Amino acid sequence: MKISMACDHGAYQYKNEIKEMLQKEGHEIIDCGCNGPESVDYPDYAKAAATLVANGEVDKGIVLCGTGIGISIAANKVKGIRCALCTDVTMAKLTREHNDANMLSMGQRTTGIETCKDIVHAFLNTPFSEGERHIKRIQKITEIESE
Ligand code: RB5
Repeated sequence: MKISMACDHGAYQYKNEIKEMLQKEGHEIIDCGCNGPESVDYPDYAKAAATLVANGEVDKGIVLCGTGIGISIAANKVKGIRCALCTDVTMAKLTREHNDANMLSMGQRTTGIETCKDIVHAFLNTPFSEGERHIKRIQKITEIESE
């Protein structure tokens, strides 16, 4: 799978570790930064990773910050993005099945690295349910974007 990744200074260690794991598993990663402890603004990095997803240049996006909150809020401002902040595997599975989430967000300060890796696998390996009620609700989310 082709995946965009981004983070702020609060999560560059997790981003690098997850990137390495995914590359070993054969995924292609487009790394949108950041890559160090210098303070940066997470919206800049969220926008870069989310735009690749919205334009269809990658299959999925993964973003991280201290809590996963700020960077997910920013990613969700890009049209077509459904970015889900997940803190456990159940959330990751359900957001794929029900929301057809195209981006995953996690927090380095709030979730352990092994849990994050399990969340990533659940997110990438769970297909959308294609359920009629879920399709209708996602359509309604899309309609909000153009109101
Ligand atoms: C950065 O200090 C911190 O605010 C950020 O990583 C994130 O937790 C925001 O939601």
